[in-house]
Amino acid sequence: MIRGVDHIGIAVPSIAEGRKLYEAMGLHVEAIEEVPEEGVRVAFIPLGPPGGPRIELLEPTSPESPIGKFLAKRGPGIHHVCLASDALDGDDAALRAAGIQLLRPAPTRGAGGSRVQFVHPKSAGGVLFELAEPGESGRAEGEPAP
Ligand code: CO
Repeated sequence: MIRGVDHIGIAVPSIAEGRKLYEAMGLHVEAIEEVPEEGVRVAFIPLGPPGGPRIELLEPTSPESPIGKFLAKRGPGIHHVCLASDALDGDDAALRAAGIQLLRPAPTRGAGGSRVQFVHPKSAGGVLFELAEPGESGRAEGEPAP
């Protein structure tokens, strides 16, 4: 089941530049992690108390990566909205049964040991939705290991 908004993903050419806005608002980068499978480096910025929604800044590590192509085509901006799932395999199956188009044949690894799936924008009013199930850290993505 979906349990809330985990994060909003924003594509930026540079995390070093992009983070300045949030730091000027008194927010802090909690973790930066590279996800080689996605050709991306991500920075998570909590918007409030632990467990609440976060901003995810996405910086491409190569122009051929999905985020690199997104930036080239559309420029910086909102890339996806991530919903927290407490049972990703069940949500994956329920969406397929409802005829919703998913991007991947099965959930894959995300940042922080999470598992993720994506809903195709064609099935979601033009919005790319990520569904994320927390990793062993108990947090969907990006929380530093203790
Ligand atoms: Co994300």
